[in-house]
This record gives sequence, C-alpha cells and structure tokens, in this order.
Amino acid sequence: MKAKDFFRKKTIEDSIRSTVEIEQLENHTLSRSLKLRDLTSFGIAAIVGAGIFSTIGNASASGGPAVSLLFVFTAIACLFSALCYAEFASSVPVAGSAYTYAYVSFGELLAWIIGWDLLMEYAIGNVAVAISWSDYFTSLLKGFGWHLPEYLTMDFLTASRAYNEVIKLLNEGQTGSSISPLLMEGYNAWKNAPTINGIHIVFDFPAFIITAFITMLVYVGIKESKVTGNILVAIKLLVILLFVVAGAFYVQPENWSPFAPNGISGVMKGVSAVFFAYIGFDAVSTTAEEAINPEKDLPKAMFLSLLICTVLYVVVTLVLTGMVTYSELAVGDPLAYAFEKYNLSFLSGIIAFSAVIAMTSVLLVFQLGQPRIWLSMSRDGLLPGVFAKIHPRFKTPSFSTIVTGFVVALPAMFMNLTEVTDLCSIGTLFAFAMVCAGVMINPPKAENSFKVKYINGKIILPVLFFITLLLVVIAKINAFIYMDMTGDLYPITEEFPIIIFIVIFAITACFAFRKNLSLIPALGFLVNLYLMTELGATNWSRFLIWLTLGLIVYLLYGRHRSKLNKKAADQTDITL
Ligand code: ALA
Repeated sequence: MKAKDFFRKKTIEDSIRSTVEIEQLENHTLSRSLKLRDLTSFGIAAIVGAGIFSTIGNASASGGPAVSLLFVFTAIACLFSALCYAEFASSVPVAGSAYTYAYVSFGELLAWIIGWDLLMEYAIGNVAVAISWSDYFTSLLKGFGWHLPEYLTMDFLTASRAYNEVIKLLNEGQTGSSISPLLMEGYNAWKNAPTINGIHIVFDFPAFIITAFITMLVYVGIKESKVTGNILVAIKLLVILLFVVAGAFYVQPENWSPFAPNGISGVMKGVSAVFFAYIGFDAVSTTAEEAINPEKDLPKAMFLSLLICTVLYVVVTLVLTGMVTYSELAVGDPLAYAFEKYNLSFLSGIIAFSAVIAMTSVLLVFQLGQPRIWLSMSRDGLLPGVFAKIHPRFKTPSFSTIVTGFVVALPAMFMNLTEVTDLCSIGTLFAFAMVCAGVMINPPKAENSFKVKYINGKIILPVLFFITLLLVVIAKINAFIYMDMTGDLYPITEEFPIIIFIVIFAITACFAFRKNLSLIPALGFLVNLYLMTELGATNWSRFLIWLTLGLIVYLLYGRHRSKLNKKAADQTDITL
C-alpha cells in the first residue's frame, strides 16, 4: 500500500450512485417534497433539545448572564460551518454528511477519521440527550408525586462524588437542610443503593429505557414524517416562548449584575454546553435528496434555523439568569427549576413535559442518522458488510441500528452529563472544522450548486493572525503573572491546545497569503478550531485517543477492504 492510497478519493458521481443504491435497497422512493419551511423545521427539530433545556444550566452557573453573548459568538462560528455544509450538501446531495464530503475532498483516510469522529457527534451526543431526558422525566414524575429511587436516576460517579462531598460538609458542621438538594439527592442515591460485592448499584434507568424505546422505533422503520416533525417543533417553540413570556414577569434585574461574574474565563467554560445546543443544524444537509430545491433552500434553511435558535437561546438565557441567581443554576433541569423556585409547579410541569418531548425528537433524529453513516461506510468497504444489512421486512439498517442502540444506551446509564457533552462538542467541532477546510482547500466542483461567497483572505487572514497572536500572548502573560502571585503551578499541559491552534493559524495565514484562500471557510475552520481549544487538555487527550483507535481500526481493516482499494487492484490486474 502506497501513501497516496490514503488519499484516494470518491468522485461526486460515485457518491451519488452508492446513495441511490442504499435508498433503493431500503425501498425508499426518492421524493422531493421538502420545502424551505419543512427544512427549517427539521433543523429546529434537531437543534432544540438538551442544550437549551439542560446544559445551559451549568454554562450559566459558571459564566452568569454573559453566557447570552457566548450564544451569539458560537452562532457566528456555526454560521460559517453551515455555509460550508450547504456548499457540499448542494454539490454532493447525498446522505453520509461530513463523511461523504471528506471522501470527495480529502480522500479515504480523512473520510474514515471523520466518519469515526461523527460517532462522537451522533452517538455520544445522544448519550447526553438521553441523560438530560432522564433528568426532566424524573422531575416530571415528581410533579405527579411519583418518586423513582434516586439510585436509578443518576450515574455512579455523580452519586459517589456527592456522597463524599456531603460527608465532608456534615463533618464541617453543616446540617442536611443547609446542603443543596442536588447534592443531597446524590448522597441518598449512594447511601440507599443496593450493593453487590461492595459495589454500589447506581445507574440512570430512564436514560436506558428511552434509548431502548427509540432504538426499537427506528428499527421497525418509523420515520419522523414531515407533519409529526412540524408539530413537535411547534410544541417546542411554543413552550420556549411560554418560558420567556411567563418568566419575564419574574425577572429581577439585579440578578444581571455583575453580568460576567467570573470574567471571560467563566463564560468560556460554557463553550461546550453552548456549542452543544447548536449541534443539529448540520443534519439538515442529510435531507439534500428530499428537498425540492436543495441548492437554494438548504443554505437558507440552515441559516434560518440557526437565526431562530440564536434569538431564542439569547432571550432564554437572559430570562433564566434574570429569574434565578446564576450560581444556583447548576441543575439538570434549569428551566423547570426556575419556575419551581417561584412555586409555579404547574408551569414547571409544562416545561418538563415539553422538554421531554423536545429531547425525544432530537434522540430520534440522531438515532436515525448514526446507522446511516455506518451504512455508507460499510458500503464503501470501510466497515464490515453486516453494517449495511437491511432488514427484509422493515427495510431499515437493522444491525447498525441495534449497535447504535447499545452504543448509546449503555454509556447513558453510567456516564456523567458534562463529560459526554464535552466529548460530543469536541468531536463535532472537529467535523465542522474539517468540512470548512474541505471548502477552503478543495471546494467541490459542481455546476449550479450553492457556493460560499468568495472573499479573498490574502491580507485579512495574516492580519487576523497577528492580532490573535498578540491577544493570546497578553492573556497568557496576565494568567502567568496572576499564578505567580497566587503561587499556583503553571499548568503547561493545558496550553497545548492553544499552541497547536496558533501553529495551525500561522500555516493557514501563510497559505492564505500565497494562494488567496477564501475567507469564509478559512474563518469557519479557525473559529471551530479555536472553540476546540477552550475544551481543555483532558478532552483533547480523550479525543486524540479516540482518533488513534479509529486509525488503528482503519489500518487493520478499512484500508484493505475499501471498495476503492479493490477497484484499484482490479484495474491493475486488467492493465497487467
Ligand atoms: N442541539 C441538540 C441538543 O441540544 C444536540 O439536544
């Protein structure tokens, strides 16, 4: 195998042909019925979920009301990526999303890496959504007076940490009533959990059940129809509006001051949670074949769904942090909690109920999407053929669907929400960065497709590089002086991500100068990369371990079994 084989590319025609085969085997009639309104609604269906109903709580608890500005900044980053997705989606209108785009633009190795990485977006993202679903579901049950034992509603680590924390506080002389209810829940979960050989049996049962249920639906072929999708979206939007309008009456403006209580670093701690809230607009690109007018409507739909969600997110954050002091918001169901705080149990119940519905639709979209990516990879020979197996009766990718069910349901029982959100965000940011890089370096050559507007980055990118370098140096010197004063050790390993970012920015700026790179995809690439640096060295190392594992699988399996490898071998035989 030669090095150039790692970069063997699929043509746009090949990609379209294999997708048509998939559709025919699945017995789908390719009907172009989605209008701009349906596509936008699909985008909102995939976007609005655990992020706004759940992870916003932790982000606000560390960043305060200023997290609303982080929503705007992150939306701009997503907009750059959305434009690049739109260019690919309208030139390569096939399922498989970023994986297929990478196959066309960068070749096989990177396509495999992206496909492997998309597992982080779809499957790990769904783990996070299932965990948040469970938080809202249990608070909904409580509203009806039904209490599940605490040890069946959370992960092992949360319970054991809470137990140790509470013991410490009790030893320091605090009483149970002065300790936060959330900590007490974890404490009780640990204390009351049955044990086997001394191991506490604590797991998130509702998260498991909902994943199993959705997997079953997806297995028997239920498709989120246009109408159901639109109704679900209408419910989500109505409830968010209800939160904003009703909550506005309880806003206490003094809660907005200070606006950024923990400074920029506090706000940036929320990057992963905030970015997570936007994930899903890229799923619009998978509907390229069902859109009536994909060239025009896909970019517009992504743009509109992002715009609508940004406005909602900013307003919700302001109302939430206005209703409740930011530091109290580190809960799994912050929107319901805010009303609970004012003894508005009825409203809190409505919010919890619709959050459960909203998250169910996100689970469905991603649980449908993941097997399709595996299907595409298997058809290309990069995964075993069984991943492309279609159920004879239900016409769904049965094996891939079941594997997805396990990959999501098992971790959902045992993993911690913050950890999975971080992994999902870092994986998705990487996929977005790669799609932007694809348009920046090797834009798809298709006629009549949507194109990202070309603005020459020759001068702007190098100038931005020097400004960024200056800002980073100033920030690091400040941090260094502060740590020197406090006597803390300088955590040099934490700086690796930003160093890598600066090096890549420098290379991109040089290329921009020499090759007149297009500004928008370059900015998308860099902003996504920058957001990755905010996720900390631990997440980077987990992510790199994941990618290395993927590389090993590719080297041992995919590179030999790839269809393109076989095609090349056949051609060599014919030539001989
Ligand atoms: N954006 C999706 C959510 O917040 C993943 O649930």
